[in-house]
Amino acid sequence: MIMSLGMARRLSRPLRALSRAAQQLKDGDLTQQVEPEGKDEIGQLGRVFNHLAKSLQRQEQFRRKLTSDLAHELRTPLTNLQTHIEALLDGVLTPTQENLSSIHEEILRLGRLVSSLEKLTRAEAGVLNLKREHRDLRELVEKMTCQFQPLFIDKGVKLTISLPRGPVDISLDADKISQVIGNLLSNALKFTPQGGEVEVAARKGDREVRISVKDSGAGIPERDIPFIFERFFRGEDGNGGGSNGSGIGLTIVRELTEAHGGKIDVKSQRNRGAEFTIRLPLPL
Ligand SMILES: Nc1ncnc2c1ncn2[C@@H]1O[C@H](COP(=O)(O)OP(=O)(O)OP(=O)(O)O)[C@@H](O)[C@H]1O
Ligand SMILES: [Mg+2]
Repeated sequence: MIMSLGMARRLSRPLRALSRAAQQLKDGDLTQQVEPEGKDEIGQLGRVFNHLAKSLQRQEQFRRKLTSDLAHELRTPLTNLQTHIEALLDGVLTPTQENLSSIHEEILRLGRLVSSLEKLTRAEAGVLNLKREHRDLRELVEKMTCQFQPLFIDKGVKLTISLPRGPVDISLDADKISQVIGNLLSNALKFTPQGGEVEVAARKGDREVRISVKDSGAGIPERDIPFIFERFFRGEDGNGGGSNGSGIGLTIVRELTEAHGGKIDVKSQRNRGAEFTIRLPLPL
């Protein structure tokens, strides 16, 4: 009797701690962690709880950062619009073609920001809901390259493609990987001046497939490289196209690649082009 009482107490202690922590989590304290004891079911439950609390905390931090980044992004175009319009109303500024088109430019910038945000939200929802199917990667790369070819011809940038002879079968979400390739191609086009070259390549290794997009354009300064995948990061003006983007393309590329268990690398130097490589794992 005494032994079983002691045992019951030993069993119920971690459960009580868990229940307390769960209650506090429910009340909004996301820093809660318990000390999981042992390898039994209760210990396992404790570890699952800690994992859950950590991921809730991460999501909350992500949400806060998104809100503050967004407020920061919106502030500049809104302030510019406000000052311009107030100056027009006060008669300090005359509504010339030039002044109106600068206001129009700010409105377009806001529009682009909103549509990039919609894309980001869709990509994030897609990460949780990948629709994988077996595909030959060559087809996808070919399709995206064909879609972009007219834009490259228009700008006078040569677009070439290099594919292996045999099929590159892989399980992936075709829409999402097409979006990844599309975003990389659109950057390559934007940052490569007329007369330049872009090469898209797919290669198959033993354990992974690699898709690379290499351009001969403006390149990325070394100090920018750690930040280019961050939401809203844009390089300075003067690299050919930085000012008219929202800095969201590469964030989406990285999220979708990682959702497939893959990785993205970049090699680049100022004025010496850039090469982005996506590596997607093959099943063992
Ligand atoms: N191929 C490239 N060559 C040179 N710089 C690049 C290249 N790709 C990306 N960058 C740099 O990384 C930054 C972030 O790229 P990202 O695609 O996320 O944003 P963006 O192209 O500026 O805007 P968005 O893609 O949202 O329209 C760019 O502003 C640019 O400075
Ligand atoms: Mg981009």
